[in-house]
Amino acid sequence: MTDPDATGPGPVRRQIWGRRQGPGLKPARRQLLDERLPALRITLPEQGRLDPASLFSRPMQGFRLEIGFGGGEHLAAQAKARPELGFLGVEPFLDGVGKLVAEIEAAGLDNVRILTDDARLLLLVLPDRCLQRIDVLFPDPWPKLRHHKRRIVNRQTVPEMARALVPGGELRLATDITDYARWMLDTALAEPRLAWMAERADDWRVAPADHVPTRYQAKAEREGRKSVFLRFVTRQ
Ligand SMILES: C[S@@+](CC[C@H](N)C(=O)[O-])C[C@H]1O[C@@H](n2cnc3c(N)ncnc32)[C@H](O)[C@@H]1O
Repeated sequence: MTDPDATGPGPVRRQIWGRRQGPGLKPARRQLLDERLPALRITLPEQGRLDPASLFSRPMQGFRLEIGFGGGEHLAAQAKARPELGFLGVEPFLDGVGKLVAEIEAAGLDNVRILTDDARLLLLVLPDRCLQRIDVLFPDPWPKLRHHKRRIVNRQTVPEMARALVPGGELRLATDITDYARWMLDTALAEPRLAWMAERADDWRVAPADHVPTRYQAKAEREGRKSVFLRFVTRQ
């Protein structure tokens, strides 16, 4: 679904083409979202920047962002493994948000905050050099040429990602679609603040040690497609 009338901060329009809600959002999940999401939700400022530290009830040693977290399995696992870091997750699909909120409740996590909107809007309001890492895992590939402009990894978003990362921070991109992998690589290499970390083929063919497989990754593997992991570091 696209929301062409809504505008976000600055000149960027909200761009969400996938579903916001599936047929399967059960009443109990809906109730959990109604009760718990307000305390976890990121509200975008009407003007100015959004300091990630202001979102959490205790001091954090750094911040990470995951864009399009789907069912949230990767994000929840990272947040459990690194309780000293604050995690921002963006996902407009409410069924996925419901899964993550249930996991946050079950694990008692206090270091995750969620935006249920277009990640572009958050990127625009983040301060410079505020994130240690950004993950964009198996984003929608939009295979048709005329839809390439919908890809979340693009020449407008990647500079914003590089700007928001601390020097020495990491942009981690993953996909199972060869054409999108090439596109991601071209796009990131065109950004002068980013350097590709790969030195050998296994650096992009093998998942990073702390990676947790996602639902879309599992689907790709079942269907015989291999995943590519592209990691970029921000120059000092
Ligand atoms: C193919 S799924 C991958 C989900 C998950 N990362 C995984 O690997 O299982 C892409 C996700 O990106 C989300 N998405 C689409 N447009 C988005 C946007 N503008 N901002 C943030 N997330 C978006 C979709 O709702 C969807 O859940």
